[in-house]
Amino acid sequence: MPLSIIYARSQNYCIGRNGDLPWDLPDEFAHFTRTTTGGAVIMGRKTYQDHNSYLSGRVNIVVSRNSYLTLAPKVLRASSLVQAVAIAARERGEIFVIGGSGLLTEAFPGATTAYETVVHADIEGDTFVTPFDFSSWRTEQLEEHPVDDRHAHGFAIYRHVRDAGDQQ
Ligand SMILES: NC(=O)c1ccc[n+]([C@@H]2O[C@H](COP(=O)([O-])OP(=O)(O)OC[C@H]3O[C@@H](n4cnc5c(N)ncnc54)[C@H](OP(=O)(O)O)[C@@H]3O)[C@@H](O)[C@H]2O)c1
Repeated sequence: MPLSIIYARSQNYCIGRNGDLPWDLPDEFAHFTRTTTGGAVIMGRKTYQDHNSYLSGRVNIVVSRNSYLTLAPKVLRASSLVQAVAIAARERGEIFVIGGSGLLTEAFPGATTAYETVVHADIEGDTFVTPFDFSSWRTEQLEEHPVDDRHAHGFAIYRHVRDAGDQQ
């Protein structure tokens, strides 16, 4: 079953700080919204608590071992990534694992597509993603975004597609 991961990382692989994104990049967030809308988004409990609300236009699934977790209306809970993917597979559309770091690492071996934003800066933070090896994947650069008055850092957006036969 096709499975995608989507994340933004700095040059030093930072993805988070104090439970939040370590940058404010509105056009990068717009890319995330555009890409995931119409699909299912699977996220760790801390990533969910970063926004604590339903991401509209998508099936929202939070992975947590806490069965008493309080979630916003329409947000579903799964106790594992496998269960989350099974729930998402009942719906139409692409299935995205959107973080945090442990879920991205767990999803990577089964992922067929990875949307990776590289923020052109070294960023201090407390959450880092594994440097995944995309050398045997087909890589396409979707966008190169410059620094401007709304974006303190430039960034590049890549789509990596795993070659058939390379599934782990
Ligand atoms: N830059 C990006 O693209 C990006 C993307 C996503 C998140 N972030 C940032 O990353 C940080 C949060 O990420 P994080 O890695 O610290 O945490 P996280 O993955 O969002 O959440 C970790 C929690 O998710 C649950 N969980 C994860 N894997 C599980 C599994 N296999 N089975 C059952 N439960 C599982 C557990 O919840 P319980 O403890 O409730 O059991 C675990 O404590 C924030 O700063 C956020 O803003 C950045």
